[in-house]
Amino acid sequence: MILSGIDAMSVTVSRVNAAYQEKFPESCRLFERGRAVFPSGVTHDSRYLEPFPIYVKEALGSRKTTVEGHSIIDYWVGHGALLLGHGHPAVVDAVQKQMARGTHYSACHELEIAWAELVRKLIPSAERIRFTNSGTEATLMALRIARLVTGRTKVAKFVGHFHGWHDLLVPAAYLPYTTDDWSMPGITSGVLDDLVVIPPNDLGAVEQVFQQQQPACCILEPTGGHWGLVPIQGEFLRGLRDLCSKYGVLLVFDEVITGFRVNPGGAQAHYAVTPDLTTLAKILAGGLPGGALCGRVDLLDALAFGNRYGQKMKHPGTFNGNPLSAAAGCAALNVLADGEASHRVNASARQLRQQLNELFVKKAVPWVAYGEFSMIHLHPNYHGPMLLGDDVIPLDGDYRQLDVEHPGSLKHAFRAALLTQGVDWFGWSGMTSIMHTDQDLAQTVQAFDRAIDVLRADGSC
Ligand SMILES: Cc1ncc(COP(=O)(O)O)c(C=O)c1O
Repeated sequence: MILSGIDAMSVTVSRVNAAYQEKFPESCRLFERGRAVFPSGVTHDSRYLEPFPIYVKEALGSRKTTVEGHSIIDYWVGHGALLLGHGHPAVVDAVQKQMARGTHYSACHELEIAWAELVRKLIPSAERIRFTNSGTEATLMALRIARLVTGRTKVAKFVGHFHGWHDLLVPAAYLPYTTDDWSMPGITSGVLDDLVVIPPNDLGAVEQVFQQQQPACCILEPTGGHWGLVPIQGEFLRGLRDLCSKYGVLLVFDEVITGFRVNPGGAQAHYAVTPDLTTLAKILAGGLPGGALCGRVDLLDALAFGNRYGQKMKHPGTFNGNPLSAAAGCAALNVLADGEASHRVNASARQLRQQLNELFVKKAVPWVAYGEFSMIHLHPNYHGPMLLGDDVIPLDGDYRQLDVEHPGSLKHAFRAALLTQGVDWFGWSGMTSIMHTDQDLAQTVQAFDRAIDVLRADGSC
């Protein structure tokens, strides 16, 4: 057992850890190097795993291969970006060709127009588009434009909704959710004073906030915080649309995850609710970095020179609309435009949710799988009735019960146990790509089966 170098962590030497360390010795060694250059050894908080994360050398289709050569079924799918799976031939071909033609012209180019035209064709609210480098930048831009256009300063968001890591929206995105103090280390009280946080799925609370605080905009993940961990349904979206129109509050759909995934036109097309502004990223750029804000012509006019507002929002950004991301984005959007990709990923996730629930009943563990579209969420401390249909939301959709901190030790042990069985799960959640086959799903259920046995033997579940 290799425990050297990770003495700073309190690692329980369990069956799970022993098997994990035996299976991933090269990853352990790379982590030693990573820890010497990165805080906690990682470059994204979610990739932190005890006793150490896996290191991957290549990926194709639904799978990635670790440095040890183990093939792992991947449910992170590029943090949601890879609806088409790893290395889709159309995307690879487009990027390889573009690479040889140049990655940055410091000039306008035709591909950026083609990319934006595709977005406009697919996303109902996208009358005009501005490319950014990430989803975080897109949500930042949405707020600034909303303020410039409305002349109001406050911004409304929902408890547990994630919109990137910038100062204005990261409060209230992570547990623990307190009722009135959303302070985050490093964020000033001045910034926090401009944020109004509303409990999800409560139109009465929304109306009260709109009446009393008159926010410039209201932003949300349209299928629910953390991509549907606490699901939101069409009725709420329609009510919110009406309230925004009534009180002059701009409605912003953050479709960084849902855009092109739940439907080629995003959640707004699925629910037939058109927001004023939409933020996009991930699938938008076909697996390369990229984001966008799109929306009404008059609102995006805030970015135009000599605009109707008499003041322009400044927006530079070295890699905005760069040819490589544009090439990958065009290729991906062309593949998914007919809706077949969304249909397939939604169907495979539904199948997996059902198969996992059958397994959890068989194994008599208090776990449940739920979710909508291609998202799968697990609740590992569920004592309600076993779900009968895929459209049932557990625990009455109550965010105080669904969006809770499960024991950190179980979280790490669960991921490590699954990895040992050949599956990489995104925390307590996962997403499918079009490359996930029936065989992958069956193998995933078997991996859960064995992982639960090991966790049980360790007394973790
Ligand atoms: C809904 C949502 N909005 C915004 C972001 C931020 O996007 P990025 O990581 O590209 O900055 C994310 C990232 O996961 C997201 O899930």
